[in-house]
Amino acid sequence: MDRNYWEKIAQNYNAEIFDVFRNDKTGIIREAILEHSNNSKTVIDIGCAVGKWIPFLSVNFKKVIATDISAKNIELAKKNCKAFANVEYSRTDMSDSKLKISPVDFAVCINAILTGSLSKRTVFFKSLSKCVKKSGTLILVIPSLESSMYTSIIRHRWKVDQQLLKASSSTKAKAIKYENLQQGNVNIDNMPTKHYLREELILLLEQEGFNVTKIQKVEYSWKTEFVKPPRWLKEPLPWDWMCVAKKK
Ligand SMILES: C[S@@+](CC[C@H](N)C(=O)[O-])C[C@H]1O[C@@H](n2cnc3c(N)ncnc32)[C@H](O)[C@@H]1O
Repeated sequence: MDRNYWEKIAQNYNAEIFDVFRNDKTGIIREAILEHSNNSKTVIDIGCAVGKWIPFLSVNFKKVIATDISAKNIELAKKNCKAFANVEYSRTDMSDSKLKISPVDFAVCINAILTGSLSKRTVFFKSLSKCVKKSGTLILVIPSLESSMYTSIIRHRWKVDQQLLKASSSTKAKAIKYENLQQGNVNIDNMPTKHYLREELILLLEQEGFNVTKIQKVEYSWKTEFVKPPRWLKEPLPWDWMCVAKKK
């Protein structure tokens, strides 16, 4: 999941990429952002992609800095959000160890730290810390490994969507998949995608000088996981982790 991957996917972004803004039916992320919104503050949207969160951020903050590694995504975000004048756009690679960035009061980073590369993730987390001023706040949303495992167990135990998922894989492919899983990298559309444990996320943020003040589930419908979810399958729903963290 490098820059090329995101540049290639840009033209088909809406069809390919899960829309957290639309699927957060309870509005838990918006609620957490509103708790920190202030029309004298600047917010940075890290990994803004095609700008799904920009209109909401624009009306609730003085200024929005919208950043993404993909130039094509940034172009689409500009086009989609041209009605919002208080937005500054910047192509930024959060996995660049030489990144220089002016820290702001408030940062959101929603499902952007997905790379299977440990070295890229390590720098990304360090860059998160560079983006936020002392006593500033970060809202980080990332895929939950617990939720992914729960879904996988249900899929196997009750053979959900079995007719649709007949692909078999070689011994080598299975070994790679197993090795990836040890790191929390789960394949999504054949792409190793980092998923995080709750405790792992707290540890990673604390290591970068944040104090985690809240960690909650962002719940989605079972239809986001299965084509045909069993009728009896109710709560707990599949989820991402949302973390609110204060820079020490
Ligand atoms: C799944 S999309 C999420 C988009 C958006 N936050 C949302 O919720 O709609 C992930 C985005 O993170 C961006 N991204 C991935 N790695 C990045 C990096 N190293 N630096 C900056 N952006 C990155 C990708 O280009 C992509 O647009």
